[in-house]
Amino acid sequence: MLTASLIAPSILAADFARLGEEVSAVAPYVDMFHIDVMDGHFVPNISLGVPVIESLRPVTDVKFDCHLMMLNPDFYFGPLRAAGADLVTVHLEVFPDPTEAAKKARAEGLEFGLAINPPTPFEAVEPYLELCDMLVVMTVHPGFGGQSFIEESLGKVELARNFVRSHGLLTDIEVDGGIGPANIRRAQDAGANVFVAGSSVFRAENSQKAVTDLREALENREEA
Ligand code: DX5
Ligand code: ZN
Repeated sequence: MLTASLIAPSILAADFARLGEEVSAVAPYVDMFHIDVMDGHFVPNISLGVPVIESLRPVTDVKFDCHLMMLNPDFYFGPLRAAGADLVTVHLEVFPDPTEAAKKARAEGLEFGLAINPPTPFEAVEPYLELCDMLVVMTVHPGFGGQSFIEESLGKVELARNFVRSHGLLTDIEVDGGIGPANIRRAQDAGANVFVAGSSVFRAENSQKAVTDLREALENREEA
């Protein structure tokens, strides 16, 4: 199974007044953009939504990985697709059985992912992994950028990688929160192959160099 390592900067840490410029500056060096949609209900914060995604779409062809930290995310699948989303991730904590949500996303032409919060065990999502293009293991509590990486989350990444391997699945395993050059390699060693990085890219002095540094910290391999 071939699973390349992919870097996904989270635009949550960008300067929203210069969002287009910040995204274009790193676009040639990244594999996807991670877009955090927060509704102030599922998480205690509000970030951005459909109109911002729509405005950003003409800026780059890079894939948009939309992480929906919200209640009733399926209500927005159609508008998100129309705005330019490629993949939507919903939380297992919102959909204890995500089968219908996955169908709905695919019917809209979206790829589908499931995210699990730090307290949610891997076993809760295991029965639904086959529905997913991507599993997102939260390595911080969702809601805010710039938090410290929760090391214990890597145990779930290992369980997920073993499951994906042993079942011959192609599911990407993304880690989200607190990722930087000091821990990205540990996340890769645990089995992650998609790395979200907000603060460590957009709060760096040179965001392009920050992406290159993250890539250099990874072992260059095709199999995660
Ligand atoms: C947290 C978000 C993350 C966040 C990552 O709720 O889901 O994607 O933007 O930002 P950093 O890399 O700063 O932890
Ligand atoms: Zn996120």
